[in-house]
Amino acid sequence: MKRHCSIKGILSELSSYKKELILGNIISIVATVLVVMIPLFIPLLVDELLLGKDHHFLSWISEHLWQSDTKGYIFGILALILFLRALSTFLSIIQTKIFVSISKNITYRMRIALLQYLKLVSLKEYEMLRVGSVTSKLVTDVETIDNFVSSTVSRAIIAALTLLFSAAVLLWIHWELALFILITNPIVVFFTAKLSRNIGKLKKEENRAIDLFQASLTETLELFHQIRAANKENYFFDKSKEDAQELKDHAIAYGYKSDAAMKSSYLIFLGGYEVFRAVSILAVAYSDLSVGLMLAIFSYLWVMVTPTQDIINFQYAVSTAKAACERINSIYLLEQEPIRTEITDPFAGQKAVGIEVKGLSFAYYEDKNILENINLEIKEGTKVAIVGASGSGKTTLANILVGFYPLDRGEIFYGGISNRELKLSTIRENIHLILQHPKLFNDTMRFNLTLGKDYSDEAIHKALQIAQLKEVVEGLKQGLDTLVGKDGIKLSGGQRQRVAIARMVLSDPKVVIFDESTSALDVHTEAKLFGALHDFLKEKTVITIAHRLSTIKNADFIYVLEDGCLTDSGTPEALLKKDESYFSRMI
Ligand SMILES: Nc1ncnc2c1ncn2[C@@H]1O[C@H](COP(=O)(O)OP(=O)(O)O)[C@@H](O)[C@H]1O
Ligand SMILES: [Mg+2]
Repeated sequence: MKRHCSIKGILSELSSYKKELILGNIISIVATVLVVMIPLFIPLLVDELLLGKDHHFLSWISEHLWQSDTKGYIFGILALILFLRALSTFLSIIQTKIFVSISKNITYRMRIALLQYLKLVSLKEYEMLRVGSVTSKLVTDVETIDNFVSSTVSRAIIAALTLLFSAAVLLWIHWELALFILITNPIVVFFTAKLSRNIGKLKKEENRAIDLFQASLTETLELFHQIRAANKENYFFDKSKEDAQELKDHAIAYGYKSDAAMKSSYLIFLGGYEVFRAVSILAVAYSDLSVGLMLAIFSYLWVMVTPTQDIINFQYAVSTAKAACERINSIYLLEQEPIRTEITDPFAGQKAVGIEVKGLSFAYYEDKNILENINLEIKEGTKVAIVGASGSGKTTLANILVGFYPLDRGEIFYGGISNRELKLSTIRENIHLILQHPKLFNDTMRFNLTLGKDYSDEAIHKALQIAQLKEVVEGLKQGLDTLVGKDGIKLSGGQRQRVAIARMVLSDPKVVIFDESTSALDVHTEAKLFGALHDFLKEKTVITIAHRLSTIKNADFIYVLEDGCLTDSGTPEALLKKDESYFSRMI
């Protein structure tokens, strides 16, 4: 199922945290009621206590709760107000804790979903992917969404509640004035929504600039060795500098324009506030509104400032989160490997499995077939070789045999079962392709051999022995625990190839494909290697792609690939007899 990022999706995700949300909201409501109650003490203090107007509340208090003089009441109410504020702050801290953990969980799940998706993205897409660009989406854009969820959603709820309560109290105090506020508020929101629209675009631009910077920097660092060899540090670092400059420009644009938009929104609000204050004074002068109630109304206006601001910010956060979602969704557009259902596993319980290719054609780009109507039959346990000029499609064919690329036309049968009825993981579990350019991890020798799987030391040493690596590892200062450096830089090309072969020996597959896997070895070491591999490979199906005659002279059968077509094939002797040039070209 394709997941994708949207505000609606995030909100529905939020609804799965019902229990926490309800608890958080109850706490919010209590905290809000506490704060909203505070201005109600003003008319009590001013009108009843100070101006001596009708002692409605005060007489009720002195009768039912507590009797005191003016000073006592003032300090008593002060203490009560301070207590209410402290309690409200404490509750809002707890509420934040609840909401923060909800939002972090949501963004965590978002990252996990992205990782899960990336895990299944097809190789074709990976080949064109810029690593930095993907990481920036997983970090920066998810962070933008996190800001939206954590700070805003929680505050938006409390802001809406505060506004609602304040409106109710205001309506109770003086409904005409309250109506005036309630009508002006949507106008403020309308204008600020207009202002916020562009901010999303600016955020998108800023995040895109981060993405470019990160991508170019990652590539420069990845290929640093090559760059230094070509004496091109200036060129590549200047490119990253340019990207940094662009990032700065976008960050400045976003930074001040979003702030300007927010401040303008706030200005609109303050304008409304000033108008309202004048109207309230008019109400005191020309109607029966008391000064105490007027001050209480002013306080409510202040109580409403923060939530209004939060709602304004909420609009900005929504538009930036929308922009971040759009960018994240570009990941979900990447094509994934096909998911197949598997009924029988042809490899289970077998020592070796045969492979049959029928009518296979393949193109990387629509207009040019790299492989054309390939038919192959490799019986279980046989050793075949594929030869052909560089660029004839050998590596492509090997990659297709392990399901790296989907087939355009044709079918491959593994032990009689079609590739369409086999999981790719089953194929790769049993068919080990030794890549033409094996990559090593910047980790220990041991990790590079085991790739994290648990093998006994004995198995590792046996694999090292077969791969002709025993002496190499013994020569390393820390043996198997030696770090091999970035991409195995501390090892020679031939040693890296042998690490890949040792990896294959450890994984003990049923079919082995060597794609020019010994090209960097001298003929002598290669002969020793194949000698040592002989017993190991005895019962397995083996496909060897090679350039050198020495590598393939023991094959049972040789296929010749020319411009993507299997032109001819036969035993080494037959081919040799037919046309010596096949091999003279290779040697
Ligand atoms: N990942 C790829 N994307 C696009 N074209 C590719 C890719 N890999 C190889 N090719 C093209 O396919 C052709 C065959 O390449 P390859 O299978 O690597 O040949 P060989 O291994 O026989 O040297 C070449 O013309 C090459 O340019
Ligand atoms: Mg190749």
